[in-house]
Amino acid sequence: MRRVETIAALRDAVAAWRAAGERVALVPTMGNLHRGHLALVERAQALAQRVVVSVFVNPLQFDREDDLSAYPRTLEQDAVALETVDADLLFAPPVSEVYPEGGSLTRIEVEGVTSMLEGASRPGHFSGVATVVAKLFNMVLPDVAVFGEKDYQQLLVIRRLVRDLNVPVEIEGVSTVREPDGLAMSSRNGYLNAGERRVAPRLQAVLSALVAAVEAGTTDYRALEARAVSALEADGFRPDYVTVRRAADLERPGEDDRDLVVLAAAWLGRARLIDNIPFTRQG
Ligand code: PAJ
Repeated sequence: MRRVETIAALRDAVAAWRAAGERVALVPTMGNLHRGHLALVERAQALAQRVVVSVFVNPLQFDREDDLSAYPRTLEQDAVALETVDADLLFAPPVSEVYPEGGSLTRIEVEGVTSMLEGASRPGHFSGVATVVAKLFNMVLPDVAVFGEKDYQQLLVIRRLVRDLNVPVEIEGVSTVREPDGLAMSSRNGYLNAGERRVAPRLQAVLSALVAAVEAGTTDYRALEARAVSALEADGFRPDYVTVRRAADLERPGEDDRDLVVLAAAWLGRARLIDNIPFTRQG
């Protein structure tokens, strides 16, 4: 696996592959890689001959300085993990390479879907994500880019950005990879102490119970959401939201909507966990 830190070296490597007629996939990450990230790499390998993985903790998408400085940085371990799955290139630029002017006066704002949920809880977050992802697309010029459904709203934002700006890249989503006890894999799980780690899978369990209730015919989503919030509070979480939405645009579902997703964000100790389950309502 090659490892580069500059945009020039990245472009050279990708140009050589292109010239040889190879398809190129991009997997953008912030590092501290786990099996969820590696599943994206494996999907990318099925879609393209060459896979670039970026590891960049993007300051623009953090709304709190303490969150940015505490974010786990484990580049040497990440490089080993990427070697194991046979990724072709690790792009790990310093902040000065991505933001040589110290920031970006140009921002990408995807409206609508960013105003709610994670967008409401974390001002500026999705603008930071959309801007860095657009920059990465322009640096790599991939044929396809792979993202996790774990960050469901982020995936919708990227899909919309690509459609609105005619970016010539296919966007591929990969289902959430979980620990054996159901907890969605996340770099932030490392913030949990042993007791919190035992409780954490309850988040997924509460969402699964809500999905089961909808599948059993209950359509009073507000009541189900309130019950889920109480269940999480009883387990020691501090929920930001639990909500049933339309899968396509995260608007509140009407009677006829079938393709749904339940999403939640909840604090447990000093970790803010997010999770979601997409599902189709029968009948
Ligand atoms: P990061 O949190 O490192 O996630 C990188 C990619 O891995 C995202 O597409 C995310 O959805 C996916 N991912 C994380 N946990 C996963 C899991 N358990 N199962 C499946 N996929 C999972 O998301 C970001 O970084 C950044 O916002 C980024 C897109 C890189 C822009 O800076």
